[in-house]
Amino acid sequence: MSDAFDLAGRVALVTGGASGIGAGICEVLSEAGAKVVIADRDEGGARARIEAGAAHDFVAMDLADEASVVSACAQAVARHGVPWLLVNNAGLQDREMLLEGTVAHWDRIAAVNARGPFLTMREIGRAMVEGGQGGRIVNCASSSLAGQFVGGLTAYMASKGGLAAMTTAAAFELAAHGITVNTVLPGGVGTPGAIGANGPPPEGPGNRKPPLGYCTPRDIAGAVLYFASPAARLVTNQALCVDGGFTVT
Ligand SMILES: NC(=O)c1ccc[n+]([C@@H]2O[C@H](COP(=O)([O-])OP(=O)(O)OC[C@H]3O[C@@H](n4cnc5c(N)ncnc54)[C@H](O)[C@@H]3O)[C@@H](O)[C@H]2O)c1
Repeated sequence: MSDAFDLAGRVALVTGGASGIGAGICEVLSEAGAKVVIADRDEGGARARIEAGAAHDFVAMDLADEASVVSACAQAVARHGVPWLLVNNAGLQDREMLLEGTVAHWDRIAAVNARGPFLTMREIGRAMVEGGQGGRIVNCASSSLAGQFVGGLTAYMASKGGLAAMTTAAAFELAAHGITVNTVLPGGVGTPGAIGANGPPPEGPGNRKPPLGYCTPRDIAGAVLYFASPAARLVTNQALCVDGGFTVT
């Protein structure tokens, strides 16, 4: 079998791996041979993934809290060595209509979806640079940026647009160290986070059914695996939208 997608022996730190898309990412990376460490605020969910064989270890991390991110990244490095791969997957999907918008909502979404990945990239990026072996970073934005959105996503889309833009900035600064940084834009997936998101009823163009069908967590994970794999060694600052063909409707 080709080793183009082989991650044997590679350590992967996946934020939000306890649920939904992140759980699928952990599963697929583990199948590819990676030693997957979940960074999440949901310890119970993460332990269930470990018991199911989809992950190896867990570190408690609250992305909204800088000290927690710093400590969790340090723990992961101390226990498993410098990760080869960081996947910034965790995120909040709560909605609030623009005209009813509050600073509290904006700040909460920005802290978890944009500032959190900035902090993980800083911490794990430093470790990767010090380790001198290169590495991969994959940021999970959203196909809302490609038109698959509903009302109430002002703060969310700003945070995901910021994350996609950070990919470019980080890809530039880290290329000299052999570290690639890419973005996956997941389409709609029926996860606990998507179904349970707070806010007004989701109405808008994002309700159109994609012609190829709705995505599963493993469909999104395939794109993450590609960016993490030997096959993508010269690919950086790219965005891959996995949306069931939504953009052609
Ligand atoms: N499901 C979709 O339709 C969809 C579409 C586009 C993009 N996305 C993005 O994909 C990612 C995963 O979404 P999902 O649908 O699997 O959501 P989910 O809510 O099912 O899972 C998110 C995970 O992130 C963790 N998390 C949340 N806040 C955290 C924090 N402050 N610190 C640490 N961990 C935290 C949760 O505990 C959970 O395990 C998110 O970034 C989301 O914005 C999802």
